[in-house]
Amino acid sequence: SESDLERHFEETIGRDQRIEPRDWLPEGYRKTMIRQIAQHAHSEIIGMQPEGNWITRAPSLRRKAILLAKVQDEAGHGLYLYSAAETLGADRDELTEKLISGRQKYSSIFNYPTLTFADVGVIGWLVDGAAICNQVPLCRSSYGPYARAMIRICKEESFHQRQGYELLMTMMNGTQQQRDMVQDATNRFWWPSLMMFGPPDDDSPNTAQSMAWKIKRHTNDELRQRFVDMTVPQAEALGVTLPDPDLAWNAERGHYDFGRIDWAELKQVISGGGPCNAERMARRRQAHEDGAWVREAAAEHARKQRERAVA
Ligand code: ACO
Repeated sequence: SESDLERHFEETIGRDQRIEPRDWLPEGYRKTMIRQIAQHAHSEIIGMQPEGNWITRAPSLRRKAILLAKVQDEAGHGLYLYSAAETLGADRDELTEKLISGRQKYSSIFNYPTLTFADVGVIGWLVDGAAICNQVPLCRSSYGPYARAMIRICKEESFHQRQGYELLMTMMNGTQQQRDMVQDATNRFWWPSLMMFGPPDDDSPNTAQSMAWKIKRHTNDELRQRFVDMTVPQAEALGVTLPDPDLAWNAERGHYDFGRIDWAELKQVISGGGPCNAERMARRRQAHEDGAWVREAAAEHARKQRERAVA
C-alpha cells in the first residue's frame, strides 16, 4: 500500500541508503530533485559561454588545449545531468524548452562577463572551487543517479580548479600588468562566487526539506563558510587581495568572518537582470534553433531504424 511504500522510502533515507529510479518516491521529492538536477544541468551548459568566449583568443596552444578540454567537460556534465533527470521521468526536450523560455533557472555566476584572459584563471580558481565545495557533499546525495554523476563531475571540476590556479600562478609570476589583470578579475568574481551558494539560510525556502530528504547535506551558509575558509590561504599563496575589508580570522569561531553580501544583487541576477542574462539566453536559444536540423535528422534516422527492425 501507499503507506508501506512511504515507510520504505523514509527508512531508506534514514539508513543513509540511496533512492534508485525503480523505487517509489514522494511527488515532492521527485519535483525537488528534477528542479535541482535541471538547474544544475542548465548551469553546466550555459557555463560553457563565458569561457568559450576566450577559446579563439587563448595566448598559447597549451592554454587553448586546456580551455577546450574544460569547456567540453562542461558539455559532458550537462548531458550526464540531463540523463539523471530523465531517470525521474523528466523529458529532456521539455527541460531545454523551460531553460530557453526562462521558466527554469541556471546559476547566477554565469551572468557576469569575462573581460580578460585572467578571468579564465579566476573562474577556475573561484567558480570551480566553489562548485567543488558545493558538489563534493552531493556525492552523498540520497538520489543514486545524481550522487554517482557527481563523483566523476567532481574529479573533472578538480582539474578545472587546478588549471585555473596554475594559470594565475603563472600570471602572478609575470609582469605587473599581468598581476593587475589577476587582481582585477579577482575583484570582479569574489562576491558573485560567494553568491553561487544561494541565499542565506534564513531566506532559503528549499533547504529544510532538502536536508531532511538528504538531497542536500549542508546548508548554503555552511558551504559558503567552508569556501571562504579554504580560499583565504590560497589567495595569500597567490599574492592577491580578496576585495573585502571585513575578512578576518575569528579564533573564537575557528572561521574567517566576512563582509555583508549584496543579496539584492543576487536576487536581481536570478530574476534575469544580471549583466549578461539576456546575452546568455539569446545565445542558447540561437544554438538550439541552429541545431534543429540535427534533431530532425536523428529522429528520421531513428524512424528508419525502427521501420527496418519491423520489416
Ligand atoms: N543562482 C541561481 N539560482 C539560485 C542560486 C544561484 N546562485 N542560488 C539559489 N538559487 C535559486 C534556487 O535554485 C531556488 O530556486 P527555485 O525558485 O527553483 O526554488 C531559489 O533560488 C531559492 O534557493 P534555495 O532554497 O537555497 O534553493 P536550493 O535548496 O536548491 O539551493 C543550490 C540552491 C545550493 C544552488 C542547490 O540547488 C545546489 O546545490 N545545486 C546543485 C549545484 C549547482 O546547481 N551548481 C551549478 C553551478 S556550479 C557549476 O556548475 C560550475
